[in-house]
Amino acid sequence: MDGDSATPLHSRYRGTALQSRGGVASVLRWYILDNPQLMQGRRVLDVGSGSGACAIAAMKSGALNVTANDIDPVAATAIKMNAALNAVNIDVCKKNLVGESCDKWNCILLGDMVYDAEFTAQLLKWLRAFRCQRRLILLGDPGRQALRDIEDNCLTKVATYCLPKSACLENRGFTQACVWRFM
Ligand SMILES: C[S@@+](CC[C@H](N)C(=O)[O-])C[C@H]1O[C@@H](n2cnc3c(N)ncnc32)[C@H](O)[C@@H]1O
Repeated sequence: MDGDSATPLHSRYRGTALQSRGGVASVLRWYILDNPQLMQGRRVLDVGSGSGACAIAAMKSGALNVTANDIDPVAATAIKMNAALNAVNIDVCKKNLVGESCDKWNCILLGDMVYDAEFTAQLLKWLRAFRCQRRLILLGDPGRQALRDIEDNCLTKVATYCLPKSACLENRGFTQACVWRFM
């Protein structure tokens, strides 16, 4: 196991209920489960995987293979546990891949990752180098300022989900979350 087994699992990584429709962080997972054909035959990289929910959804939806990437060792442990609970095989990578070559993947998922302007700029620079017609790059986000600042012709909104009332409070008042395709 990669994480420190003595470290209590942070609540945000516990128990990935694949079908629950929670908050902003869940929107990309919903989209994948609603559109399983998008994952078929894909070699998927889930950047900032957290609990591994998007990675698990991709695997369950027919991806060829999935790498869940998170720099937090506790997340890496949680991903392994959640993958086992959901009976899927997922590779886990703790390296910071932002800026690295990612040619071995033809799909990149980023769920709730554009929360900071500086990091978003780094991510987009990296994604621009990676994009090509055959690759699918999907972002889940409620439309935060960092995303609005760069929402130009490289991003197309492909889905909007209403958040349940209970989730709005814990998501800074956002009432909906969207999935964007990076073109
Ligand atoms: C808001 S959470 C999103 C979790 C997950 N994608 C989801 O939708 O539930 C952000 C995650 O990104 C991870 N993270 C931050 N910077 C990263 C980087 N450069 N590479 C990989 N993971 C990173 C954090 O450790 C955290 O687990």
